[in-house]
Amino acid sequence: MRNFVENHLSSKLLQSIFICFFAGICWYLFFVNENNLLHFPPYRFSLKARYRFSPLQKLLPSSQCEISHLLAVCRHTSRYPTSTNIEQFSVLQNKLHNISFISPYEWLQNWTNNFSLDRAGELSTAGEIEAILIGERYKRRYMELFDYYSPDLYQVNSTYKNRAYGTAIAFMTGLFGKNFKDKFEVTRNTEDDNLLRFFDNCIKYEQNIIQNASKIVDKIREGPEFVELLQRVNNRLGTQLLTWIDIDTLWRICTMEFLATRSSLVCSVFSDQDSQLFEYFYDSRAYLLKSGGYEINVKMSCILLKHIVSKLQLAANGDRKKAQLYFTHAETLIPLLALLNITTHNLVMENKHLYDRANMYGLLVPMGANLAFNLFRCVNGEMILTIELNEELVLFGKHLKSSVLLSEFFEIANFLISDCDPTTFCSIPGSD
Ligand SMILES: *[C@@H]1O[C@H](CO)[C@@H](O)[C@H](O)[C@H]1NC(C)=O
Ligand SMILES: *[C@@H]1O[C@H](CO)[C@@H](O)[C@H](O)[C@H]1NC(C)=O
Ligand SMILES: *[C@@H]1O[C@H](CO)[C@@H](O)[C@H](O)[C@H]1NC(C)=O
Ligand SMILES: *[C@@H]1O[C@H](CO)[C@@H](O)[C@H](O)[C@H]1NC(C)=O
Ligand SMILES: *[C@@H]1O[C@H](CO)[C@@H](O)[C@H](O)[C@H]1NC(C)=O
Ligand SMILES: *[C@@H]1O[C@H](CO)[C@@H](O)[C@H](O)[C@H]1NC(C)=O
Repeated sequence: MRNFVENHLSSKLLQSIFICFFAGICWYLFFVNENNLLHFPPYRFSLKARYRFSPLQKLLPSSQCEISHLLAVCRHTSRYPTSTNIEQFSVLQNKLHNISFISPYEWLQNWTNNFSLDRAGELSTAGEIEAILIGERYKRRYMELFDYYSPDLYQVNSTYKNRAYGTAIAFMTGLFGKNFKDKFEVTRNTEDDNLLRFFDNCIKYEQNIIQNASKIVDKIREGPEFVELLQRVNNRLGTQLLTWIDIDTLWRICTMEFLATRSSLVCSVFSDQDSQLFEYFYDSRAYLLKSGGYEINVKMSCILLKHIVSKLQLAANGDRKKAQLYFTHAETLIPLLALLNITTHNLVMENKHLYDRANMYGLLVPMGANLAFNLFRCVNGEMILTIELNEELVLFGKHLKSSVLLSEFFEIANFLISDCDPTTFCSIPGSD
């Protein structure tokens, strides 16, 4: 397993030059390798972190096996804030205008909201570039699967949302080049999307958020460390007028500006310590609202896992399709990861010792996150499976192995989907 890690290009510089060369562009240096003004690591943005381009790892588990199929569930890449967010930013802008701040933060009084409502929730330009780059990396790693494009060799689906569809097209452009751009066949699922948007159809899940989960989230931010955070930021800016909502909105402005332009002056308002607290808050929120915090959050993703199992079975039986790519949302991926028991601890990545919490969503599910099921056919006739998250190997199963026999994977997965009946677990007793 160690060779896996040691085999990749260790020099970041070499990798940048190679990617620049490969892509014929230097976007990578601009958008990906540059932390600009940010004085804390970008994964602190939790679910709003940009994609983390890790050094490329080797795909093959052994020279005795070759890749035969890929099934990937991907999150859309970087997007603009939602309309609710943009409106909150404007409300804060007006409030800031009436406050004087001390040096060196005087400029904050004149901060202007540059996010246009027209583009609310849509893929950003940075997000489009991100998806192309991820597609190009997939092309390099899965060379045999993506040598030429023909619609009947690939099943590509996106949810009905523009940002998911746009990511699909950009990703495919990275895979096959823009000459094919008009030929890509991507199935855009309808709004009623049981497989990729299972979370839209589970009443118990929605009710539990309202009745239980969101109340616990509110409690977290009443904790003493958040009271201190509020005081600390007010003191730093030389005012007492900002409330928790204001500070939280400022953090989201920093997050979204950084996501859209890869730099944000507003981020300079926050210290490294502040950023850790926000990360902790938003990670906890994601855990309670979308992951292991409540059983129902996780359970409902069995619908998608069941589909994945049946598609991998078909592929193992020699189905002609080379790859299946699904473009979805954080709400799709987070429960699925939790169901498969994949956390920060299972990832094979650089500087792993820095990451002590199990659920660090800035590492697990940043923008453009992708969960890949890689099916290999080996000379001895065996079929084995590896799982990768964001192109980093996942140690899987009870014995945390870097690859498992396909039959072993099916055994684990079949147990997880054994009583997958949403009409039962999504219903609320006493109501229809
Ligand atoms: C800003 O101050 C002006 C004048 O005092 C007042 O009319 C306005 O309502 C204030 N705006 C906000 C957002 O507090
Ligand atoms: C903010 O803008 C106003 C009007 O343009 C200007 O008078 C003021 O000096 C600016 N404040 C700061 C702190 O830059
Ligand atoms: C917003 O746009 C204005 C005018 O185009 C520009 O001067 C300002 O720097 C921008 N602010 C940010 C935070 O990008
Ligand atoms: C993808 O689209 C096809 C129709 O082209 C549909 O049969 C299939 O269920 C969709 N898959 C997913 C995972 O949504
Ligand atoms: C909310 O929590 C209570 C107490 O644990 C539980 O009885 C109730 O079923 C939960 N609500 C939902 C919709 O799951
Ligand atoms: C999940 O994985 C962790 C190790 O990463 C392990 O300690 C735990 O027992 C696993 N839980 C289940 C239900 O398999």
